[in-house]
Amino acid sequence: MANQKGGVAKTTTTLNLAVALREQGRRVLAVDLDPQSNLSMSQGIDVEGLGVTMFDVLVRGSSIAEVIHAREVDVAAAGIELAGAELALSGMIGRERALHRALAPVREAYDYILIDTPPSLGLLTINAMVAADGVIVPVQCEYLSLRGLAQLQGTLAQVHEHLNPHVRIVGILPTMFDGRTLHGREAMELLVENFGPVVYRTRIGKTIRFAEAPVRGESVIAYDPNGQAARWYRMLAREVVERDQGPGGAEGVEDAGVALSGEAR
Ligand SMILES: Nc1ncnc2c1ncn2[C@@H]1O[C@H](COP(=O)(O)OP(=O)(O)OP(=O)(O)O)[C@@H](O)[C@H]1O
Ligand SMILES: [Mg+2]
Repeated sequence: MANQKGGVAKTTTTLNLAVALREQGRRVLAVDLDPQSNLSMSQGIDVEGLGVTMFDVLVRGSSIAEVIHAREVDVAAAGIELAGAELALSGMIGRERALHRALAPVREAYDYILIDTPPSLGLLTINAMVAADGVIVPVQCEYLSLRGLAQLQGTLAQVHEHLNPHVRIVGILPTMFDGRTLHGREAMELLVENFGPVVYRTRIGKTIRFAEAPVRGESVIAYDPNGQAARWYRMLAREVVERDQGPGGAEGVEDAGVALSGEAR
């Protein structure tokens, strides 16, 4: 999950998509790669009391298994010290591949590894792009910034060229969508006009449940299993799997991906 814009639902999407995929029988790991540690906290992990964290995994070569906590899904936990990882990594050879290396031993143990990234295009997000097969970009419909997306595409294009030829945008996810307002509908139209089929059909609407659930250390799926919020993320999980395996699905998206990077230049 990446978007350098803050507060667009990267963390909310990482957790709830992970839990929805788990519910649908997939083996899922959610990796917290943000020093804010919101993902870890939203599963009730006490991030101040952690011994070993993602910092140690990236910088000191600790094993990823040491930082995985079994919650609703497996969560590789982070703490605030991750803020120092970019500096600590910057002098190291292979600094962009630290996460890729760290995940290698557990890749086969999971069907999906979802990575939550900070609101920046720095070394942590680049590590995520190097380790990933695809990027899901949550976009807040109200404060739509196509310029921001172009910047993200620019970084991704460089990663694609120099570090990971497999990575591409697999989906753009409209979040906090309010179809009752003209602004919401117009923002949505603009998004689809510009990005076509790479935009998920699933739209995540706005509800206070998303703010309430993390306080309880739960996903919205555990917090309000029959609510709309849970339904949206279940729908997204089905769409994500369908794009992976569906007839022609991945191909269609690949085409959109090409058009996207063309536009970014
Ligand atoms: N669909 C939604 N409707 C209403 N509120 C939402 C929705 N999704 C997320 N939120 C709330 O918006 C805030 C930002 O969400 P979140 O933390 O997931 O964004 P983020 O992109 O991870 O932020 P950051 O860039 O700081 O990491 C949170 O308080 C969250 O509970
Ligand atoms: Mg976040």
